[in-house]
Amino acid sequence: MTEKDLKTLLASMTLEEKVGQLVQCNAGLFIETGADITGPEGEALPAEDLCRAMGSVLTFENAAQARALQDMHLEKDPKKIPLLLMLDVIHGMATTYPIPLAMGCGFDDDLIAECADMARKEAAAAGVHVTFNPMVDTARDARWGRILETNSEEPLVNSRMGAALVRATQRDNLADPGNIACCVKHYAAYGAGEAGRDYNGVEVSERSLRETYLPAYKACVDAGARLVMPSFNALNGIPSVANKWLMNRVLRGEWGFEGVVISDYNAVGELVAHGVARDMKDAVRLAMEAGCDIDMVVNAYYTYLPDLVRDGTVPEKALDEAVMRVLRLKNELGLFENPYHGADSEAEKRLNLCPEHREIARHAAEETAVLLKNEGILPFPKNLKSVALIGPFAAETRLNGFWSRPGVEKDTVTLPRGLLNLLPDLELTVAKGCGADLGDRDESEITAAAEAARTADAVILCLGEPENDSGEGRSRADVTLPGPQLALARAVITANPNTAVLLFNGRPLVLTELAEIAPAMLEMWYPGTEAGNAAARLLFGDANPCGRLSAGLPRATGQYPMPYNRMNTGRPKPQPDSGVFPFTSSYLDVPNLPLYSFGYGLSYTTFAYEKLELSRAEISKKDELRVTVTVRNTGKRAGKETVQLYLRDLVASVVRPVQQLIDYRKVSLAPGEAKDVIFTVTEKQLRFWNFDCEEVSEPGEFELSAGYADHLLLTRRFTLTD
Ligand code: BGC
Repeated sequence: MTEKDLKTLLASMTLEEKVGQLVQCNAGLFIETGADITGPEGEALPAEDLCRAMGSVLTFENAAQARALQDMHLEKDPKKIPLLLMLDVIHGMATTYPIPLAMGCGFDDDLIAECADMARKEAAAAGVHVTFNPMVDTARDARWGRILETNSEEPLVNSRMGAALVRATQRDNLADPGNIACCVKHYAAYGAGEAGRDYNGVEVSERSLRETYLPAYKACVDAGARLVMPSFNALNGIPSVANKWLMNRVLRGEWGFEGVVISDYNAVGELVAHGVARDMKDAVRLAMEAGCDIDMVVNAYYTYLPDLVRDGTVPEKALDEAVMRVLRLKNELGLFENPYHGADSEAEKRLNLCPEHREIARHAAEETAVLLKNEGILPFPKNLKSVALIGPFAAETRLNGFWSRPGVEKDTVTLPRGLLNLLPDLELTVAKGCGADLGDRDESEITAAAEAARTADAVILCLGEPENDSGEGRSRADVTLPGPQLALARAVITANPNTAVLLFNGRPLVLTELAEIAPAMLEMWYPGTEAGNAAARLLFGDANPCGRLSAGLPRATGQYPMPYNRMNTGRPKPQPDSGVFPFTSSYLDVPNLPLYSFGYGLSYTTFAYEKLELSRAEISKKDELRVTVTVRNTGKRAGKETVQLYLRDLVASVVRPVQQLIDYRKVSLAPGEAKDVIFTVTEKQLRFWNFDCEEVSEPGEFELSAGYADHLLLTRRFTLTD
């Protein structure tokens, strides 16, 4: 349709029909999807009326459901305006790849694109038009259960990976039934909730908002994301969905966003609980004034918007603009010509879990695992005769993590399966040893597990955090290993020191005590469908770990918030940190630095940083600085290193971070091989937000370093001239 056709359509619509375009319902109100319908959905609203009126639905699972929903709606809608079908396709559809936090540890934008491309194909075949992805909430507090949905604590990583995901998902032409639109979320600063509690308010200065939290959303908008979802939280006192500054001034004004804004689940209605709206009607007014186009879940706009327009509180022009944005998106997706878009049950059968997709998922799980410790016991030799596979996650199928699609665990390659796929003759004993639930104190199975460990050649000890303990609404005040897992680890490692610990978890955990006793630790996160195969290949050296932490691991929960790019104080604690330094910025009971810092990760080989060279000692604002980092594989195996470039602004008008990642590149190196990794630094990367909230660079001296956070190995200085 042309823009003119869309306007003619709009002009023909009744007020109720227009409002309907701004209403999103849960698909489960109309068809059997198996999804839980929580909150106010469907309260006393006749499904018949809704089905005719609604503009979009969320949460369905396959092409058959997608087609049934579309048919049901089109049959009833007098205007025959197709539904938009939306779903959270976060880290895969049928084939699940590692959780976003793990993907961040891959430090590989192409890997994100490859996985997103796979998810796009499966999701498009299931009939998805819009995915509520990417989530780019920069998070620095692992108490927040949704940290697993973000790629990193670092805005640069979130910006690059979010944009890569958008490009791979939407591609160039949304009318192509293989492509789907992206909704970037949760705008803004949802990851900074006070005390790590989900949905909690965020108080952050405009300077730090612009420097730390906004860039990743902007990068996704710049990459073309067609939708934006405001966050649940109040930001500096105003819930995002009603935050005019955030939405009208920054998003639509400064960034020129022309797409659709969709509220988060019932966020419009929640303005009442926040205490900024008198009642639901008032909440609708506030959300409309802030430019929220679609109300996710039905009760607010559907019930109150028509009256608000009739009595002139919400101008009809504002309603029309919102409706036009929705109609344009439908049109861009080609829905008026083909309302089913890519929904195709045959394609689903062909694509879902096909060998090629499993291969991508396995590769991603291998690339994102982080080797935290290795006292020479990994990789295990393949001629091991017997292995004891111990721990609450030893035979677990739920290794996919929050937002994996319902039921995918039936297709997960478990650890026993993966080990036997690789080594069919291995004598494998499996023992749970203990549970991993919060508050679980049952140690009765530990003795038997230790006995199994004692008699095996090697032990793989699978610890972590149950899948349900991270994700939305799952904050923890203490992020240590839950249940009696430490007791299990002590008993097992004492019984057999040839033990490698595998960790499955959705947030950085405190591993301080475990790290003291475990000879080897490999952080697997939630690796997804191919968990067992990837773990087996990593443990036995068919794959070499190359993940680097995209969020540091704390020594104690009390260290949070713990950004790697912390600001210096007037009394910094001397480094290296070897004890108590009174009257410095420090703790009496824990060192300042994390147990494992941002950017850290080991390999089965070793790397040496031989050189860091700058093409010049001074640059003007127009110049480019060429930075050459020479890195060599000094070990005996091929491996991959993520070369990280950090910046420090030595003197500025406001306090600057002690280290700031400004670029990264992952390189493969054969044994003995050296490579020059060349970065280009320009004045743009030296900018920051000054006290008056202007983005500036200030002339003066800067330091560039290579290494990882808190362990910068090579450093050179240069000057930015006036
Ligand atoms: C979450 C969003 C999600 C939406 C739809 C909400 O509860 O916060 O991230 O996209 O539900 O499922």
